Amino acid sequence: MAKKSQTAFVCRECGADHPKWAGRCTECGAWNSLAEMRLPGGKSPTREVAGYAGEAARITAIGEVEVSETPRESSGLGELDRVLGGGLVPGSVVLLGGDPGIGKSTLLLQTVLGLQDRIECLYVTGEESLQQVALRGRRLGNDLAGRAGELTLLSETRIESILAACSKSLPGLMVVDSIQTLYTEELSAAPGSVSQLREATAQLVRFAKRHDVIVLIVGHVTKEGALAGPRVLEHMVDTVLYFEGDPGARFRVIRAVKNRFGAANEVGVFGMTDHGLKPVSNPSAIFLSRHEKPVPGSVVMVTREGTRPMLVEVQALVADHPGGGSRRLTVGLDQNRLAMLLAVLHRHGQVALFDQDVFLNVVGGVRVNETAADLASLIAMLSSFRDRPLPQGLVIFGEVGLAGEIRPVPGGPERLTEAAKHGFTRAIVPRGNKPPKPIDGLEVIAVAHLDQAIEAVDTF
Ligand code: TYD
Ligand code: MG
Repeated sequence: MAKKSQTAFVCRECGADHPKWAGRCTECGAWNSLAEMRLPGGKSPTREVAGYAGEAARITAIGEVEVSETPRESSGLGELDRVLGGGLVPGSVVLLGGDPGIGKSTLLLQTVLGLQDRIECLYVTGEESLQQVALRGRRLGNDLAGRAGELTLLSETRIESILAACSKSLPGLMVVDSIQTLYTEELSAAPGSVSQLREATAQLVRFAKRHDVIVLIVGHVTKEGALAGPRVLEHMVDTVLYFEGDPGARFRVIRAVKNRFGAANEVGVFGMTDHGLKPVSNPSAIFLSRHEKPVPGSVVMVTREGTRPMLVEVQALVADHPGGGSRRLTVGLDQNRLAMLLAVLHRHGQVALFDQDVFLNVVGGVRVNETAADLASLIAMLSSFRDRPLPQGLVIFGEVGLAGEIRPVPGGPERLTEAAKHGFTRAIVPRGNKPPKPIDGLEVIAVAHLDQAIEAVDTF
């Protein structure tokens, strides 16, 4: 019998296994994404992946499965609980991704310091020394620093040593900072490589499920903006959170992109201060620039993150670009949608911007992933192009279709109420989002087509 292969090739993008190396992944089509991975002890990949939870195989009828309300442990930070879907679930594994310096270690240290009296916590640091972690703990404020002595720390990167140490004095919660520094000796690949990441995560997940320990894993983000070895880790854990924001700016947004115990796409907002992260429980209007007088190219929109409406400012700059090759750039918005919006503006609004550079930006480092930003972006570009500011107190939202129609977006009433609450007096919205009852202090202009929206703006 032929000897079983001891290596497999794993796609960095989608996590698919291939028996042989190839230039392109046949599953997801990514080029040059296969990395060699040595299988521990020559086991087949399927055996390795099956049974994360370490349970023996047993067939059960669905009706016999005991279902109870998931118990949750509050993390002590309201905004973090919110993205987790109400708190931390025992035995769950949470992956926290984000750029270096964004505040991942700070957030998790703060969480465990706050939880310490209720749950025994262990902070495993592979990146920083014990002194650095202790120093950060001290920086997080006097009340926390006093308790920092009780938190247990472990400086170790070999996964087997970590789990052996934990098995002796089983903590209720474990932080692993970061997964990229962990390694197992069973594999010869370097720490941070796909095979090491996958194996270390699999061991942590198995440990969490077997002992009902909450495991919080820090993961770094690659230059392309995805978790290193993205899909590989995302499908193994229960919850994936991304910590984003401009490291230079004060505000940070934490977003759930996957959550087996709650809604995905929920966001929490924090402000970074000298004494750690402070939750911002009413973030609606912090991302506005509050210009003293109206400026061209600036439009306030109401975006909805999970269940929460937020006011954000979309800015456009449209500038002459003589000659060919004009630039189109978005920050915080989808680049492809900009190209589409420009085409719609040309065809249905009779405004051609092909000889102009177009820049679109969302203020405050926020990322808006929804189509409700379409109309606001379009009007912002038009306002900048004509060098005509929009009046203050105006909000705009709505999706723009290829036929120039303005389509309704979910959560219309909440968006309008939020705008009224913050003193906005006028709103241009899709006709499908026109509220049945008038809203106090808010004049709602409902439009069905781009023409009507431009007309409405022209009358101001
Ligand atoms: P850190 O949590 O180490 O980021 P990450 O683990 O994501 O790489 O720290 C983020 C930054 O926050 C760092 O540049 C220092 C700053 N910071 C504060 O401004 N205030 C504080 O109280 C702390 C602890 C850090
Ligand atoms: Mg860190």
